[in-house]
Amino acid sequence: MKLEKEAKKNWDLFYKRNTTNFFKDRHWTTREFEELRACREFEDQKLVLLEAGCGVGNCIFPLIEEDLHIFVYACDFSPRAVEFVKKNPLYHPERCCAFQCDLTKDNLTENVPEGSVDVVTLIFVLSAVHPDKMKLALENISKVLKPGGVVLFRDYGLYDHAMLRFKSASKLGDNFYVRQDGTRSYFFSKEFLAKLFEEAGFQSVVNEYVLRETVNKKEGLCVARVFLQSKFIKPANLQTGSGLLSYKSSKEGKQED
Ligand SMILES: C[S@@+](CC[C@H](N)C(=O)[O-])C[C@H]1O[C@@H](n2cnc3c(N)ncnc32)[C@H](O)[C@@H]1O
Repeated sequence: MKLEKEAKKNWDLFYKRNTTNFFKDRHWTTREFEELRACREFEDQKLVLLEAGCGVGNCIFPLIEEDLHIFVYACDFSPRAVEFVKKNPLYHPERCCAFQCDLTKDNLTENVPEGSVDVVTLIFVLSAVHPDKMKLALENISKVLKPGGVVLFRDYGLYDHAMLRFKSASKLGDNFYVRQDGTRSYFFSKEFLAKLFEEAGFQSVVNEYVLRETVNKKEGLCVARVFLQSKFIKPANLQTGSGLLSYKSSKEGKQED
């Protein structure tokens, strides 16, 4: 309960210590651009994106730089992280709107019009949320997504090296651990994630483990990384009459980076 109460404070202190130097820019533009392009019906179509749990903007700024037809909402519950986003030289209010929001508590519709977003990115964020509150965060996101809109998800997978390294004293619950700085991390199985999204009203399109080997120079080790990369859609509007749900047909993008 203490860690849950202090989650926002602990992430804010993380950004006080690390400023913008901790995470590398995530090159969505090269890795996932196809996926974002596939969400468009025509090439110059303006896309509205929400980066939920944006940190200092490592995901959004490469994207804003390369894709001129994109408007990005970016939120995080750490006030410091949001300030760093706003201070980035690439931040222009006509292209980006950053605001503070706890995805599990604050209604996103206070800052983002209901049903207005084409794509939501959830990149290494849901793992930081207590499993009991993940569904609340997804329901919140669903409100601002257009029917037929997509959530692009990437996060820690079950048995990732980061999980195996935790000592048993750091274990908070099934697949849920606390780091020394008080921030927490959940490790997802495909089945858990699919059920979670489906219970929040989404339909699963892609849900695959991504296996990587990375060299940990400090420890002189080659370690096995396991990530889960997934794509879920918010079903299109209910059709009256037949009582059946009608889903927008999904356009397949790249599954792996
Ligand atoms: C590992 S960082 C990822 C940041 C960014 N998505 C990226 O890819 O660089 C996780 C972020 O989630 C934010 N976060 C965790 N729980 C949150 C919540 N309940 N509401 C909003 N943001 C949250 C943290 O403050 C942190 O900035």
